[in-house]
Amino acid sequence: MPTTTSTVWHPLSWKQFEALQQPEWPDPLVLEEVYGNLSGYPPLVFAGEVRDLKEHLAQVACGKAFFLQGGDCAESFSDFTANAIRDKLKVLLQMAVILTYGLGKPVIKVGRIAGQFAKPRSSSVEVQDGVSLPSFRGESVNAPYFSEEARVPDPRRLERAYFQAASTLNLLRAFTGGGFADLRQLHHWNQDFVAQSPQGQRYAQLADQLGESLRFMKAIGINGGQHGSVLHDVEYFTSHEALILEYESALTRRDSFTGDYYDCSAHMLWIGERTRQLEGAHVEFLRGVKNPIGVKIGPTATADELLGLCDRLNPENEPGRLTLISRCGHSRIETVLPPLLRAMAPEGRSIVWVCDPMHGNTYEAPGKIKTRSMDAILSELKSFFTIHRAEGTIPGGVHFELTGDNVTECLGGSHEIREEHLTERYETTCDPRLNAAQSLDVAFLVAELLRG
Ligand code: TRP
Ligand code: MN
Repeated sequence: MPTTTSTVWHPLSWKQFEALQQPEWPDPLVLEEVYGNLSGYPPLVFAGEVRDLKEHLAQVACGKAFFLQGGDCAESFSDFTANAIRDKLKVLLQMAVILTYGLGKPVIKVGRIAGQFAKPRSSSVEVQDGVSLPSFRGESVNAPYFSEEARVPDPRRLERAYFQAASTLNLLRAFTGGGFADLRQLHHWNQDFVAQSPQGQRYAQLADQLGESLRFMKAIGINGGQHGSVLHDVEYFTSHEALILEYESALTRRDSFTGDYYDCSAHMLWIGERTRQLEGAHVEFLRGVKNPIGVKIGPTATADELLGLCDRLNPENEPGRLTLISRCGHSRIETVLPPLLRAMAPEGRSIVWVCDPMHGNTYEAPGKIKTRSMDAILSELKSFFTIHRAEGTIPGGVHFELTGDNVTECLGGSHEIREEHLTERYETTCDPRLNAAQSLDVAFLVAELLRG
C-alpha cells in the first residue's frame, strides 16, 4: 500500500487507501452514474466563502473570535420543511446572540446542516427480535425503517441528499441575507414554547437590553448606512461529517481563482472519530482540499496521533485550517485532555480546540432509549474551559447536536425532562439532540464560564 504522505493527491486518490464505514453499494454501475451526475452539478458553496471561514477560524485559533457549531445528528429526508430549517436557524442565532453579548467577541456560526446525511455505525448490522438487517447509515445511504428493502444502500440517495442540501442552503441564504436574521428581529427568534421556560425568559430580557442599545446606536447615527449590513445580515456557514467519500469527491472542484481544490459540498468538513486513521482514505481525501477541516477526538486518542493529523492535514501549519473537536465524556475529559494539550503546546501547531460535550455522554435509558443528560453535558463543558485555563491554551468553541423543536431526547434542563418523558417526543433518526430551551441553557452557561 502507498502511504498518504507519498501519494500524489487527486480527488480520487483516496481509493488507494482503506475507507472505513462505507456502505456496500449493491450495484457499482448505479454508483458510477450518480458519481458522474454529482460531478457535473453546480457546487453548493463558493471557494471564496470557504476562505472567509478559514480566516475567521484563524481568529478563533488566537482567541479573538469564538466558534459555535450545531445542528442535527443526522438530517432526515422526511422532516424536510421550511419550519424545521427556520427553527434550527433560530436556535443557533439565539445562541450566537447570547455568546456574542457574553464574550464580547465575534461568534462564528456554523450549522451541521445541508449535507449531514451519513452516519458511521459501531455495528454493520442491527438486530431486532431476532431479525438481523444492515444498520441504518444515514438518509444518503439507506432508509431508517427496519425492513429489508429500506436498509439496502441506494446510491441514488446521494443525489437526493445533494438536492435537499441545495434547497436547504437556498432557504438559509435567503433567511441570513433577507432580513430574518437582522439583529433588530431578535425577539422573533424566541419560539412560543421556549419563551415560557426560564431560559426563554432570560433570553427575552437580553433581547430587551440589546434592543435598547440598538435604539441608542440608531439615535446617534450608527444604525444605517455603512453599518446597515452588519445589523441586517448574518454570516452563516455549513458543515457535515465527510463520510461517504464518493459524495465528497464528486463535489470537489478546482477553484478558478487559485487553482486549489475545494470540497464544495459544504464550507467545513470534519472527519469522525472512527475514520481518522492516519493511513486511511478519509485523511487522504481531506488533506488535498483547502477547506477548514475538523477531526473528532475521542478518549483513546494519543498525542502521536494528533501530531500525525497535524502533519498530514496541516503541513504548513496554516491558522484556521485544523480544528480538533474533543468528545471525551464528562468523566474522562480531566484525564484525557490535559496530556494532549501539554504534548501539543511545545510543537507550536495552530489548532482550534473545540468541545463536543454530546458524543462522549450517550447512554441507554430503560427501554433501550439512547439519551444524554444535561448534567453530563454541562460538566464536560465546564471541565473543558477549566482545563484550558489551567494549561494556558485557548478554548476555541463548542459543538452541539440540537434542534429547534420541542423534543424530549436529552434529560434535564429547564423543562426537567426525566427518563419517563423520553418517549413523548423522541424524533431523532440517530443520536439524542438538545431541544431549543436546552440549547439556550448551554449557551448561557458557556457565556458565564468564559466571562468568569
Ligand atoms: N452581522 C453580525 C454577525 O454576524 C451581527 C448579527 C446580525 C448577528 N444578525 C445576527 C449576530 C444574529 C448574532 C445573531 O455577527
Ligand atoms: Mn451524533
